[in-house]
Amino acid sequence: MSYLDTTAEFYATVAQTPEVGLCCVNSETVNLPDLAIPEVMQAMNYGCGTTVQASELANQPTVLYVGVGGGLEALQFAYFSRRPGAVIAVDPVAEMRDAAQRNLAQAAALNPWFEPEFVQIVAGDAFHLPISDESVDVVAQNCLFNIFEPHDLAIALQEAARVLKPQGRLLMSDPITTVPIPEHLRQDERLRAMCLSGALTYGEYLQHLAQAGFGQIEIRARRPYRVLDQATYQLDHDIALDSLDSVAIKTPVTCGSPKIIDLSADSAVISNGQAPKCCG
Ligand SMILES: C[S@@+](CC[C@H](N)C(=O)[O-])C[C@H]1O[C@@H](n2cnc3c(N)ncnc32)[C@H](O)[C@@H]1O
Repeated sequence: MSYLDTTAEFYATVAQTPEVGLCCVNSETVNLPDLAIPEVMQAMNYGCGTTVQASELANQPTVLYVGVGGGLEALQFAYFSRRPGAVIAVDPVAEMRDAAQRNLAQAAALNPWFEPEFVQIVAGDAFHLPISDESVDVVAQNCLFNIFEPHDLAIALQEAARVLKPQGRLLMSDPITTVPIPEHLRQDERLRAMCLSGALTYGEYLQHLAQAGFGQIEIRARRPYRVLDQATYQLDHDIALDSLDSVAIKTPVTCGSPKIIDLSADSAVISNGQAPKCCG
């Protein structure tokens, strides 16, 4: 049995018995006018920050959402697109797909503008997206890719890049770690599934996005997330984890490396090697 099976089992359980604040902090849900969120869907917010970046959601985009959870962000994306099939939500865990479907039916009862057909929930996983090349405007995932081991993360990012149209956006939120997480925790499949021990450092995270070919990467927010404390996790010192919200754009890499814009820094930082000289 691999860590991916452990992860699937874990989410099958928490699909049936929601756990508030399960794998991430109780981050504030994005509030949108005329959007009411069912209580159970809110309780199943198993995400970190948010991937719902309103500035990227003009013109009713087609959104592929990977790892549906309770359906909260799928509903929020549907709020912007408002047409049948505009949001395609992929999840390998049948119990989670069923829970999301039930929660979306409740959302339809609460929100006159929303129809369950706006979100199409399909079986599939991040490594083999059941979607053709260059077919969606946005791919989003919240608090899933951090669970993946580096080799699998590279495949998941390649898959996201494959299905995005040119200039499409990959919207992500994940925990990152301020110092490398020791091997004994990285090998703990349950902690990994809980989004606690698979986190990469900021540099490693950006490196993976760069290797997947995204030409521009924007960090939209970085917030304190969790502390792995010395006593509980058999560590020499506490380890602070942050959550990172990012937007990666499928645009050609210029000057040999992606342009990185960190809007979470005290003053926005732009870097891509020689950008000012060779790109004007
Ligand atoms: C941490 S939860 C996040 C749920 C949701 N994104 C949210 O913010 O509430 C991870 C989700 O990914 C799903 N999942 C697990 N393994 C997956 C895989 N290999 N590919 C796609 N989704 C997966 C789980 O069933 C669960 O719905």
